[in-house]
Amino acid sequence: MKSVSIQTFGSPEGMRVTDIPVPSPQPGEVLVRTEAIGVGGVDAVVRRGTLGSYGFTEGFVPGSEVAGVVTQVGDGVEQAWVGRRVWAFTGVGGGYVEQAIAKVGDVVALPDDLSSIDSVTLGSAAPVAHFALEHARFSAGESVLVRGAAGSIGIAVVELAATAGAGSITVTTSSPARGARLRGFGATHVLDRGGNGDGPTEFDVIIDVIAGASLPSFVERLTPNGRIVLVGVVGGPPPADFGMVLMGAFRKSLSLSTFSLDTVPTADRDRTRAEYFDAAVRGEIHPVVEDVLPLSRAAEAHQRMDDGQVFGRIVLTP
Ligand SMILES: NC(=O)c1ccc[n+]([C@@H]2O[C@H](COP(=O)([O-])OP(=O)(O)OC[C@H]3O[C@@H](n4cnc5c(N)ncnc54)[C@H](OP(=O)(O)O)[C@@H]3O)[C@@H](O)[C@H]2O)c1
Repeated sequence: MKSVSIQTFGSPEGMRVTDIPVPSPQPGEVLVRTEAIGVGGVDAVVRRGTLGSYGFTEGFVPGSEVAGVVTQVGDGVEQAWVGRRVWAFTGVGGGYVEQAIAKVGDVVALPDDLSSIDSVTLGSAAPVAHFALEHARFSAGESVLVRGAAGSIGIAVVELAATAGAGSITVTTSSPARGARLRGFGATHVLDRGGNGDGPTEFDVIIDVIAGASLPSFVERLTPNGRIVLVGVVGGPPPADFGMVLMGAFRKSLSLSTFSLDTVPTADRDRTRAEYFDAAVRGEIHPVVEDVLPLSRAAEAHQRMDDGQVFGRIVLTP
């Protein structure tokens, strides 16, 4: 079957279309014939080599979320899954393929009225947004800043915070045009990536998809008892002396935490995901698809991400 792998970490040119055998589902797993493959920010982070120390090696197949039809199940998995259209989390990688393996606990049946393409913009992003806001102990009336708001996770945070009655929702983004689009999802103030522009000077809650060198300057903008939750590393790791910023603000009783969906019990994750799929069908949360490209053009999708041309998510089809 066709797959796309990273032969050389760095630029998208290091990605190749390769032919690999169709895998067999092991106990507890399902095989999904993919109809849609989400190109997530994490795929680009891995490809750039930002996470090189985590043990990714050449030949790695990126992609963590797919949607399609279950064609086979491994031992211990109900046969009833076969033929169902599902969303599936494939792990940190393994998604850029025509037939993907997932654990049955990471598979959710899709409502008939939600397309496979739309589902792979929300299946990870909406639960991350939901649980990150919960992790931040966000409550109605509070001021929220979303760093890196123009990706799938950020857009979902903006929508959920607006629905939950945030006092204000400030976003960082790279252009006024992207800011205008984010206002359509509920943003009230738009800052540039560095945090400059008209808006509140302090925030009760920051949901941060970016981290990177300028993270300390955002931590300094938390209110007393403010909370910042790091959900991504699109901008790379924070500076090594970052801890000193927190210590310098000791008397503000700030909270900084990371948040990963991995720590949410599987049943809670799947139930929440299914609820957001239903919410999307009702038009209460919006999938944002920048473009749909064939799997063989995955490198082009990555290049467009690197060039800052993607709002929401590019989706690949096999
Ligand atoms: N916590 C979890 O459980 C979980 C689950 C899945 C993924 N993730 C993480 O979430 C991140 C991906 O999220 P995503 O797909 O929503 O993001 P994304 O689409 O890759 O990026 C979001 C936005 O960040 C801005 N941006 C890009 N590079 C930047 C830079 N160097 N500095 C500042 N801003 C930059 C861009 O918007 P503008 O051009 O408008 O600024 C981009 O649209 C990854 O780090 C991934 O590991 C976490």
